[in-house]
Amino acid sequence: MKNILQMQDICKSFSGVEVLHSVNLDLYEGEVLALVGENGAGKSTLMKILMGIEQPNAGKIFLGEEEVKLDNPAKALDLGIAMIHQELAPIPEMTVEENLFIGRELSHFGFVDSRKQAQLTKEWLGNLNLRIPPTTKMQDLSISQTQMVEITKAISYNSKILIMDEPTSAITEAEVRHLFEIINLLKKNGISIIYISHKLQELPFIADRVQVMRDGHIISVAIMAEKSERQIVRDMVGREISNIYPKCDNNITEPILEVKHLNKKGEFEDVTFTLHAGEKLGIAGLMGAGRTELVSTIFCVNRPDSGEVWVDGEKVNFRKPSDAIKKKIALVPEDRKLMGLNLAMNVQENATMCIDKNIAKFYFLNNPKGSLLAKEMVKKLSIKAHSTKQEVGNLSGGNQQKVVLAKWLLTEPDILLFDEPTRGIDVGAKAEIFELINNLVMNGKAALIISSEMQELVGIADRVIVMCEGKITGEVKGEEITQENIMALASPKNKNGSIN
Ligand SMILES: Nc1ncnc2c1ncn2[C@@H]1O[C@H](COP(=O)(O)OP(=O)(O)OP(=O)(O)O)[C@@H](O)[C@H]1O
Ligand SMILES: [Mg+2]
Repeated sequence: MKNILQMQDICKSFSGVEVLHSVNLDLYEGEVLALVGENGAGKSTLMKILMGIEQPNAGKIFLGEEEVKLDNPAKALDLGIAMIHQELAPIPEMTVEENLFIGRELSHFGFVDSRKQAQLTKEWLGNLNLRIPPTTKMQDLSISQTQMVEITKAISYNSKILIMDEPTSAITEAEVRHLFEIINLLKKNGISIIYISHKLQELPFIADRVQVMRDGHIISVAIMAEKSERQIVRDMVGREISNIYPKCDNNITEPILEVKHLNKKGEFEDVTFTLHAGEKLGIAGLMGAGRTELVSTIFCVNRPDSGEVWVDGEKVNFRKPSDAIKKKIALVPEDRKLMGLNLAMNVQENATMCIDKNIAKFYFLNNPKGSLLAKEMVKKLSIKAHSTKQEVGNLSGGNQQKVVLAKWLLTEPDILLFDEPTRGIDVGAKAEIFELINNLVMNGKAALIISSEMQELVGIADRVIVMCEGKITGEVKGEEITQENIMALASPKNKNGSIN
């Protein structure tokens, strides 16, 4: 196989701290290389160097035989390297066509040549067997369709190397299958893909080789078929992880949160359920089932149209999230950038954001106390940061997620609403987060956990309610909690009875 990319002895430091230590990476024509490793291992940083977004302190990059200096993203794109970022950020008002031609509009006598653009757009989408009308606004596309448009765009630049950073973290299983089909199509056309993911179980389906990083070092490079998931995990975390789902001796007692006939038009309908102290209640469902809207309404980010919420046997009437916080409810949100964190502030400021008032001394911020609490949390959650003063925007994706957790745990809530708490989190840290949730419920707290990874709910929940298209379609308990049972309740049935 032809070697098309070599990264040699790449070193990178941020403010004097080295995060990549002489890293090598080879890529062959038409292959999928899986790049895996713990949160903060250096995967995204290495890819940013390849994209010309960051500059290495040492090392060489070769494309084919030729050494290249990738000092800006435009140059990387020019040389055939494109990246599908995890957080897709297209301009919502633009059409698919406008988005594809942004910055390189075709002109005809000084005017945008819409006809030619529309024709090419159709052709490019068609090459990937996509049936998205070119005039659709980006805001009307699903996450998966947006991703497909971004892939189309990347390919239209004649890219030979495509980097995908956690592309399946926010799409449904059917969409994942579609993405894999497209990846296979790209491979056949000789395009090489570097694929970053924390979902190790999907790698055998697409990866040809797998490269494991830990703490800025390459630990192993292997043929995918010759490497078991267990070996990969061991290389990632440096120790054996016997069980990601630790045992839990919790005692489920009285109702602590009751939701009665809650409605929000267009989001969910007539939702009724009870969460008990000491309980881990899962909410399963496909993307778009209304789960995120439900928990954000309980937490009063949005107001319901009708229905009741009861806490500790008392009807509550929240007007804003701070009312919910006063009742000792916490919401660990799905979209950490939007609702969870201020990226320009440091770890300590973010972690203590909700409790600053409580720890203030005579109305002044009690910084030493805040610093102590933040340090404790960094230790407890193994947050990888140079110090509690590091800007959150500079942490790796998974470590940002942990800071969101820290912030809400510090409010010492009795009821925790977790929306995809382990998205983007590595296997080792997942086990730690489940351990932490176990400790909470063993101390009488209650946890409501939304997760799109059914395996996870099977592994940890005492009971699972399933939602489909805004309604609760059923509930499973104990032994009944299996992926098959959940899937059967989560899938919308279309008219001829087959699963959609
Ligand atoms: N701009 C920056 N300033 C300071 N430190 C940074 C910066 N960017 C990254 N780092 C640090 O570099 C290390 C590697 O981060 P990186 O984002 O590459 O990890 P990752 O492997 O992609 O993790 P994840 O799986 O969580 O996305 C981390 O310790 C991170 O805090
Ligand atoms: Mg990353």
